[in-house]
Amino acid sequence: MHAEEILREISDFCRRSGLAESTFGRRAVNDGKLVSRLRDGGRITTETLDRIRNFIATGPLGSNTGRTSAIELERRPAPHYPGIGHPAAPASADAQDPQRNFRFFDNRQKYLLFVNTCSEKQVVAHRVALELANIHPRPPALRLFDAGVGDASVLTRVMRAMHERFPAMPFYIVGKEISLEDIRLTLEKMPDRFFEHPATVLVLTNLYYSEAPWLTTHSLSAASSFVWHELALTGNSAHRFETQIAELQPFLAENWKARLSPKSGNPIYERPIVLVIYREDHRFLLDSIVPRRGGTDANYDLVIASQPYRARASLEFKAKRVIAPLARALGPGGRLIAIHSHGNGPGMEIIQKVWPNDNPFTTDRHQILKTVKQELGAAGRDLNFNAYADNRSLFRYDMHTLPTEISTAIGTSTLFAAWNAAIYVAQVEDDRLAEVVKDSHYLDATGEVLKKHGGLWFWDESFVISRKRE
Ligand SMILES: C[S@@+](CC[C@H](N)C(=O)[O-])C[C@H]1O[C@@H](n2cnc3c(N)ncnc32)[C@H](O)[C@@H]1O
Repeated sequence: MHAEEILREISDFCRRSGLAESTFGRRAVNDGKLVSRLRDGGRITTETLDRIRNFIATGPLGSNTGRTSAIELERRPAPHYPGIGHPAAPASADAQDPQRNFRFFDNRQKYLLFVNTCSEKQVVAHRVALELANIHPRPPALRLFDAGVGDASVLTRVMRAMHERFPAMPFYIVGKEISLEDIRLTLEKMPDRFFEHPATVLVLTNLYYSEAPWLTTHSLSAASSFVWHELALTGNSAHRFETQIAELQPFLAENWKARLSPKSGNPIYERPIVLVIYREDHRFLLDSIVPRRGGTDANYDLVIASQPYRARASLEFKAKRVIAPLARALGPGGRLIAIHSHGNGPGMEIIQKVWPNDNPFTTDRHQILKTVKQELGAAGRDLNFNAYADNRSLFRYDMHTLPTEISTAIGTSTLFAAWNAAIYVAQVEDDRLAEVVKDSHYLDATGEVLKKHGGLWFWDESFVISRKRE
């Protein structure tokens, strides 16, 4: 028997039972290092193999391979995540760490003001929806991956467009999002989607880019704390769905936790989570689409990567850590559409009046595509990398203003909304902001730009990676 096979069995068992790999080794064969030795190529005797098998068969969960119900999940003791501390532990030094339960985007206010005062998310969703004309879903479902759901203001619009175009096709939709607040904002928007398009399987996960499309983690230790939760919505009204989705809150608050990596400063999850939601009255139809624990195919028809990285992140990070794994997740005929801020336009003029040398938008689509292609090597042979000409790739979105607002005296709330949009899009750090808001120069600069152009707008840049059809 290959070590890989037994490792897979152990890993499945640990995932189901919530045991850490070291605990497994200790309990099964009195050897806490069993799994790491196996992974390093170590051999075991047939007697040890028998003991492992026996432990798996008679261990805490027996040979349970079924799905976990919500109640089972709640009753089960929260697993220990080595090195991170017990998520459900009472206040400890660890729990008082300011990094724990940190509020996600330091710029939450900015984000909410931006999405409500500018048309970006509508325009992005429109651009993404154009791709629906170019995909060729195969039974049993149209497969969509959203690589950073945010508050789902893009995803829900795309789902509406999908329903319009493919009203009778089952949808398998996976969204990656690490922020609990964004998950809450996303779930709030979903009851109507389940009502309009009953044949929907919605999966939300906090897994990383290289894991989420496949709903699996590469790390055995993370696998041992994996939380997999399925909600089959009963009833057939949006109101009933909303009530059941809202009841998820305590479970989510307990499990959808993140912290900042001390090494990279990026948010990382405490425990990997997959949340699967569909309508109970469509269970029969959706049976082959509902994902099962332990990993699933990616094979997406459409991947949305809208604002998936910070503008100032390195080219390497954007190409290798974000876009390349997403390109791997495309199925035959599938398309990945990526969208990020392009700079230029009146928005950047405001920024440059205040910080003359600032330009956060230093990597363009050509550089990203070239690096992704290099990174994928032979795996990219059946992919097309479409940078498109500027007139197809670039699109503009605007700040909403009233018709007379800019020509007469500009109101304070408009000035603030414009300033907010400019600094949000340029992703200006809070400490730099504190300096410039001490006097009114920033508002004067904003007003001048609004007057000069009669409004405010920004540019986004898009590109597409597509996989050839079989
Ligand atoms: C997970 S991402 C994107 C979520 C979703 N895909 C969307 O497009 O709204 C959310 C983060 O992207 C950044 N972001 C979103 N829209 C942006 C924009 N127009 N310009 C610059 N950054 C943006 C912000 O840092 C925000 O916290």
